[in-house]
Amino acid sequence: MSPTAPWWRSAVIYQVYIRSFADGNGDGVGDIAGIRSRLPYLKSLGVDAIWINPWYKSPMADHGYDVADFREIDPLFGTVAEAERLIEEAHEHGIRVIPDIVPNHTSDRHAWFQAALAAGPGSPERERYVFREGRGEDGSLPPNDWVSCFGGPAWTRLPDGEWYLHLFAPQQPDLNWQHPEVRREFESILRFWFSRGVDGFRIDVAHGLIKHPELPDLPARREPDDGQPWQHVDHPHWDRDEVHDVYRAWRRVADEFPGDRSFVAEAWADTPERLAAYVREDGLHTAFNFDFLMASWDPKDLRTVIDDSLAMLGSVGAPATWVLSNHDVVRHPSRYGRKVARRWVANERYEPAGPLDLELGIRRARAAALLMLALPGGAYVYQGEELGLPEVEDLPEDVLQDPVWERSGHTDRGRDGCRVPIPWAGRRAPYGFSPEGATAAPWLPQPADWASRTVEAQTGDETSVLELYRTALHLRREHPALGDGTLTWLDAPEGVLALGRDPGFVCVVNLSAEPYPLPDHTSVLLTSGPVENGLLAPDQAAWLAV
Ligand code: GLC
Repeated sequence: MSPTAPWWRSAVIYQVYIRSFADGNGDGVGDIAGIRSRLPYLKSLGVDAIWINPWYKSPMADHGYDVADFREIDPLFGTVAEAERLIEEAHEHGIRVIPDIVPNHTSDRHAWFQAALAAGPGSPERERYVFREGRGEDGSLPPNDWVSCFGGPAWTRLPDGEWYLHLFAPQQPDLNWQHPEVRREFESILRFWFSRGVDGFRIDVAHGLIKHPELPDLPARREPDDGQPWQHVDHPHWDRDEVHDVYRAWRRVADEFPGDRSFVAEAWADTPERLAAYVREDGLHTAFNFDFLMASWDPKDLRTVIDDSLAMLGSVGAPATWVLSNHDVVRHPSRYGRKVARRWVANERYEPAGPLDLELGIRRARAAALLMLALPGGAYVYQGEELGLPEVEDLPEDVLQDPVWERSGHTDRGRDGCRVPIPWAGRRAPYGFSPEGATAAPWLPQPADWASRTVEAQTGDETSVLELYRTALHLRREHPALGDGTLTWLDAPEGVLALGRDPGFVCVVNLSAEPYPLPDHTSVLLTSGPVENGLLAPDQAAWLAV
């Protein structure tokens, strides 16, 4: 890739779910002090940037995605001064910092929503959110049939009779993005943090901001997989065309600041074409490629997703960004360790089904990492992925905290299983997550058998997932073929993916049931598992110099 290309075209960005990364003050919850103390770890891992989940002042109804004040850090995590120090120190370590911004909604404790409640129906204060009269004779039915992503209706009625919209929890009222004040406020928030040195933002629910002005009922539900190519549906609140105006304005704000500031959109779009619309020269820089994350461990599925993504993003000059796991989805060793019955559909929950073969899941996860890191563009690593952490599927019900658990009437356990605090060192919980003498246990209990998965236990063990990531990330930094650019598919039998990158690099992934002889090469750079007699075992991957 060209040495002058902006960093975000090829960056490996490590996702820090702040609550669960490292606890600096011993209260059982991760914080900014914890992140600062682990910067040397992140540097030695070899990542280019960190994305930090929301750290703003929040009542934590959705662990920070309910923001009460975008210009304050929640005391649970630290202070604005500490955030500034973290940004500075990260930069000294050569690591960029990308906070999360949550424009679709605020907390119900945000000053604007409090003012809207106080001012009553018909007031200008209510226009910054989505308030409506109900349906039915006495207005006792919600204004339409929209449902909350966390279960139940997307509307809550106030004692004064009006309803307000919340696509997520009732504590997360949706903002009205047709309102100029909302737009001005967010541009000002972006400037507030850009001027404190952040290198970009991850945009939460980037596809949700604009609602159909008439708030019509939902279109008919689609069947997940009828074998037809996926079509875009004109949806009343997801991925509406007018949302791009917002991001054109944001791009202008980012461009006011020196250095390459950049945005990554969390946009769940129906098709690669729709996703590509977010990333344009006058729009956002990148968008998470969730099609890759949702693909099953299947050579055809993966290849189609890779080709379609590269083609569509390439057509608008944007790099792809690959992602396997995050704080909202079942960790991938636990997904890959199961037979997947159907293609996973955006905006729907994936439920692990059937018995788990974790050894298989981890073998595939190791191979998937080498595939992902060999693909053109950037990549995301979710904290703990580099340790091979599985989903914690047996959290006791009384510790579950994700609002999904309550909102689904206890039918969906929610996302806590991928948010369990990171094991750093030692033989038992809190495994170094909290300092010696901590006053509280980690906010979610860590499994008793994680001693072998700690950073300490894996460091220096060449067979560990951690050392695989470390080696891969360091090779990726140095190898001129990796990062931004293009790929060529090489001839390979069914079930084997072989891709070439120039100059002189090949990645082979064996998704078949038979061993596959490594193609011609000058040296083996890295393999996801032991290779004997030149044969790549099923569910293994190799990086070759050719
Ligand atoms: C995004 C976040 C998720 C959060 C939701 C509401 O999908 O990734 O964690 O609950 O938005 O803000």
